[in-house]
Amino acid sequence: MCGIVGYTGPREAYPIIVKGLKRLEYRGYDSAGVALQNGGLHVYKKKGKVADLEDSIAGKNVHAHVGIGHTRWATHGEPNDRNAHPHQSASGRLAMIHNGIIENYAQLKSELVKKGYEFKSDTDTEVLLNFIEEILVKNDCSLEEAIRIALKRVVGAYVILLLDAENPDTIIAARKGSPLVIGVGKGEHFLGSDASPMLEYTKEVVYVNDYELAIIKPDELILKNLGNEKLTPYVQKLDLELASIEKGGYEHFMLKEIFEQPQTINDCLRGRLDAVAGTITMSGIQQYAEQIMQTNRIIMVACGTSWHAGLVAEYIFEELCRINVEVEYASEFRYRNPVINPGDVIIAISQSGETADTLVAIETAKEKGAIILGVVNVVGSSIARTSHGGAYTHAGPEIGVASTKAFTAQLSVLTMIALKVGYMKGTIPQQRYLRLLNELNELPEKAAWVLQQHEKIKAIAEKYKDARDFLYLGRGYNFAVALEGALKLKEISYIHAEGYPAAEMKHGPIALVDENLPVVFIATKDPYHEKVVSNMQEIRARKGQVISVITEGDEHSASLSLDVMIIPEADEIVAPILSVIPLQLLAYYIGVSKGLDVDKPRNLAKSVTVE
Ligand code: G6P
Repeated sequence: MCGIVGYTGPREAYPIIVKGLKRLEYRGYDSAGVALQNGGLHVYKKKGKVADLEDSIAGKNVHAHVGIGHTRWATHGEPNDRNAHPHQSASGRLAMIHNGIIENYAQLKSELVKKGYEFKSDTDTEVLLNFIEEILVKNDCSLEEAIRIALKRVVGAYVILLLDAENPDTIIAARKGSPLVIGVGKGEHFLGSDASPMLEYTKEVVYVNDYELAIIKPDELILKNLGNEKLTPYVQKLDLELASIEKGGYEHFMLKEIFEQPQTINDCLRGRLDAVAGTITMSGIQQYAEQIMQTNRIIMVACGTSWHAGLVAEYIFEELCRINVEVEYASEFRYRNPVINPGDVIIAISQSGETADTLVAIETAKEKGAIILGVVNVVGSSIARTSHGGAYTHAGPEIGVASTKAFTAQLSVLTMIALKVGYMKGTIPQQRYLRLLNELNELPEKAAWVLQQHEKIKAIAEKYKDARDFLYLGRGYNFAVALEGALKLKEISYIHAEGYPAAEMKHGPIALVDENLPVVFIATKDPYHEKVVSNMQEIRARKGQVISVITEGDEHSASLSLDVMIIPEADEIVAPILSVIPLQLLAYYIGVSKGLDVDKPRNLAKSVTVE
C-alpha cells in the first residue's frame, strides 16, 4: 500500500513523478504529495487523488531535476493534507516518504517529545523522520549513517525515500518488507514501488532486498546492507511493455482486465500444457515434485481473492492428488502458532507477491522447514523471491483494484499443478487426466464465448443495481465462486453481499430472503446440480429474486430464474474459471451504473503491504 516514486537525473522530475504516481494509484489514493529539490526543498501535498494534487500545484514553479512523490493509503492518521507525505523534518533539512508501518512509533515518539520535538502530523512516518534527524544531529554523522542507526531500532515494515537539502542530487532509499524497484538509465535513476513509473525510460532494473540501503545519484547507484557493506546491484532486464499498463480503449482497467481473460488464460497455459502430448511442463514445480508427492498435507495461504482461488484449489487437489489440503487466511495463519512440520508444502497464492501477511506467513513456515511454492503474478516480487519454487500466473499487470484476470490465471495454474502431481502420483485415471488437459486447452475460447454476453449482463445489472443486499450461493467447486462473486460486488458497488454454500443457506441466510433480495446462484452442471436446483426452489418459494449462472442448454434452471448468465459445458474442475466471469461483469456494471470509481474503490488498495 502507498505508492512511491523518485527521480534523479537531467530531466524535469515533476512530470515523471506525477505520471508515475498516477500509475501507482492502485496502491492507495487517500492523498498525494511531492518533494522537489530546487534551491532548497519544496514540498506540495494534498488530500485526494493525484489529479487533486496536480490541480493544487498548477501555476507553481515545479522546475527540479530531483524529486520524490507519494500516493497514500492511510494507516496512522486520517487522510488529510497534514498527514499526506512527504513529511519534513523539524529543521526542514530532510523530506521523506514512506510505505509501510513503524510499529514502535509510539515509543520513539515519546522519546522525541521528551526531547522537545513537536509533530505536525499524526503519522508514524514523521516520527521516523525526526528520529533519523535526531541521530544525524546528535552523532554529527552522515545521513546514510543516521538512517542505518535509526533503522536498527525500527520494528515494522518500510520503504523510505529521503531527500536532503544539503545533498541536492541524491536520494537515499531503504527497504524492509515493502517493495522498491530502482530503474537504471544513462546518467539518471528512477525509483518506484513497482516498475510501472519507469517503463518508458528504461528496461534495466534493480529489485532492492530487505535490509538494504541505496544511495542514488544521477550517475551512481551504491547499494549497501545495514552493516555498511557494499553490495553489487543485480541489474535485471524488465519484460513489461507500456501498453500492458494502459487502458487500451476501455473505460476502466477492470473492464479491460475482464476482457483480457481469454488471452491471459492462454498465456498462462502456453508453453506448459501440451494436450496432444499429454504433458504439463512446470520447471518450478518439477524440482519439488518428489516432496509434493510424498507430503501428507498442503497448506494454501493467501488473502482476498487469492484466498478464494485457494478454496477452489483445495477441492481440486483433494480430488486429483488425494492429498489433505488446508486453506488459510495468511493473517490468521501467521499469528496462531500453526503446526508446521518439515516436508509440509505451503502454496502461497498472491497476485501482487507483496501482501504483507502472506509474505510473513511463508517466511515463518520456511523457518520451520516447509517447502514454499509461490503462485504469483508479479515477477520478481517479494513472495516470488521468498518461495523455493512455484509458477508465475503470467496474467500481466493487474491495475483495477478488484482482482479479475489474476483469479482465473491462479485457478489455471493451480489446476495444472494438481494435474501434474496427481498424474505423477497415479491418483488420476489416464482418461480423466487427458480429458482435463483438453478442457484446460479449450478455456480461452470458452471464456471469450462467456464475454459475449456483456450487453445482457449490463441489462441485468441495471435491473438489480438498487438492491440493498445480495446473496450468492454455490456448492462444491462453485462455493468459492459464490464467495468471489459476493466479494467483487462489495468491493466495487458498496452493496452488501454475502457468499454462502448453497445448502448451508438453510441455516441462517434464508431468513433474509424476501421479494427484495436478489439471490445469485452459481448452478452450473456438476454432480450436485440437482441439489442446487432444489435450493433455487426454496428461494423462489420465499419470493427471492433468483438470478443464475447456468450451463448452456439447462432449460430447467433457466425456467426457475428471473435472469440467467450462461457458460458453455465444462468439467466441474475447470468450470469456476468460466462461471466467475459473468459475476465479474455483473459487479462491474452495477458499480459503473451507480457512478462509482470501479478501478479505485473507496478504502481499498491493490497491494496490502501492511498487516
Ligand atoms: C487486496 C486486493 C485484492 C487481493 C488481495 C490479496 O485486498 O484488493 O484484490 O485479492 O489484496 O492480494 P494478493 O496480491 O496477495 O493476491
